[in-house]
Amino acid sequence: MFDRPLETVGYLSIYLFIFLDAALHVILNHLNGFKMRYLDLKRKICSVRMLAIQGIAEAGSGHPGASFSAAEIMGVLYFRKMNHSPEKPDWDERDYFINSKGHSAPGFFATLAIAGYFPPSEMETLRKLGSRLQGHPVRYTPQESHQSVPGTEFSGGSEGIGLSVSIGIALANRLDGKKNRVYTLIGDGESNEGQIWEAAMAAAKFKLHNLVAILDRNRIQQDGFTEDIMPLDPTRDKWSAFNWNVIEIAGHNVEQIIDALNKSTEAKDRPTIIIAKTVKGNGIKHMTNNPQWHGKAPPREHTPILLEELRSECLIAPSIIAGQEENYEEKIRSAERGGADIIHLDIMDGKFVPNSTFNSDTIKQLRNITTLPFDAHLMIENPLAVIQDYIDARCDIVTVHAETCSESEFGQITDRLLSNGISPGIALNPSTDLPNWVFPHLRDVDVVLIMSVNPGFAGQKFIPEVLSKMRHINQKLREHGFRGYIEADGGIDATILQAVYEAGARIFVAGNAVYGSGDIHGAIIQLRYKVNVALERKLLEQANTIGIRRDWLKTRKHILIPLANELGIEEELHALK
Ligand code: DX5
Ligand code: ZN
Repeated sequence: MFDRPLETVGYLSIYLFIFLDAALHVILNHLNGFKMRYLDLKRKICSVRMLAIQGIAEAGSGHPGASFSAAEIMGVLYFRKMNHSPEKPDWDERDYFINSKGHSAPGFFATLAIAGYFPPSEMETLRKLGSRLQGHPVRYTPQESHQSVPGTEFSGGSEGIGLSVSIGIALANRLDGKKNRVYTLIGDGESNEGQIWEAAMAAAKFKLHNLVAILDRNRIQQDGFTEDIMPLDPTRDKWSAFNWNVIEIAGHNVEQIIDALNKSTEAKDRPTIIIAKTVKGNGIKHMTNNPQWHGKAPPREHTPILLEELRSECLIAPSIIAGQEENYEEKIRSAERGGADIIHLDIMDGKFVPNSTFNSDTIKQLRNITTLPFDAHLMIENPLAVIQDYIDARCDIVTVHAETCSESEFGQITDRLLSNGISPGIALNPSTDLPNWVFPHLRDVDVVLIMSVNPGFAGQKFIPEVLSKMRHINQKLREHGFRGYIEADGGIDATILQAVYEAGARIFVAGNAVYGSGDIHGAIIQLRYKVNVALERKLLEQANTIGIRRDWLKTRKHILIPLANELGIEEELHALK
């Protein structure tokens, strides 16, 4: 175990957090048709990054860049999409995952651990003598269980081979009349290997529709940017020319990954390649798109700060009832173009609040114009009576007001939502405190929405008194092991966002600040800028606490320069040699 008491305590709480997640995942996986809900999927992928970076820092070596660029891809496959069973790693009907870019091992191992294949605490042994978790994965066999972990289908390392192996498996499955699918993760640096293209030709020749390759297109390889070393573009044209079904997506967008994997089953006469536009080192800002962090470990003492950064992912949620524009479709499209994370939908019945907007019928019409998650905020009386309509409308988050339901009704609502893979939320008006009856349900709640205006209209002024309430509720929730998100809703703009962030919110609804701005993209960028300032301030405080301010400033310099004025550290950064 670690020899630094403070960090040991920190690690223990995070292991508890991750271990509970892994255990829950195994239990829920048994439920037929269990569908991982959006916010839970996000949280699990966050845990993967946390576990991977801890292991790499502890080992003093490893590949954070690729572990992070492929985190969503591997997470969606193991937590949401693939048929697989940690209890039966050789289950005959399992889908196969071939990780051909073996150096992403820390991220891959962390994903397997959280999926339940081995205890997450074993990640402490990463790259240590005698550990099963070495720099590159070893294919699992029961006889070799002392040096390989269950769930590993392929011994990665020397690149360019995995796709060929996948063809063998896909062909064998088809010859046996089996429905198993084969998913193969390949790299863009790895695509320098000629064998990749031989395999690409062969897979198309054999019309392997049961094979899906996913290209982690992070544009960086060991010694620099791919397009400087061996240009791969036009990537889409290359794979199309090899007769593959090609789908291009944003590779950190879980909804797009899910959508692409679903679409890959439509190709009946050819293999599919998903070109996932990813960012190397995504999740830790100074590692992002930075070749230096291809195969380098962060100093151990940075770990608590890096974990804090990973845990602090924020979501911007434009509220489409705001602004003059009536066309909801256009509003959603412009929010998506503008870089929004989720779409906030305010459902008002004219009874619980003095205004009425739209209901589930409208949401059903809007559902197919974007893969962005829908965050439905129900400001209606008796939500239990209509909850099925919002389930059928395929919302990703459904939040009801504590003032509109009893504990038993809320229990029924969360059960219905959870069994349909939807994240439940509870909302509080400004004058409402968190009712005690919510605490027994906390494990099932993904969102606590705190209103900072009286509900009913967009464009109102933020009620400052709500900040101390939010701080108080955030603390109480964390003390009770709440693992979800606090959502701030009402009057949020760039002037108040930092204070709301410090009070504990991580989902920010923005109506007038976005649709009243006249520049939707610019408004979202400005909100994200404010989130970044608040985050960097918090990380700097943590660096102070553990006595590594100077070293942290050095490591983080290129990220902090644009924010230096707002953080008041211009001179200090300037003085850094
Ligand atoms: C108010 C709604 C909010 C509102 C947000 O009842 O729940 O979501 O539309 O809009 P702004 O950000 O303008 O307050
Ligand atoms: Zn709202």
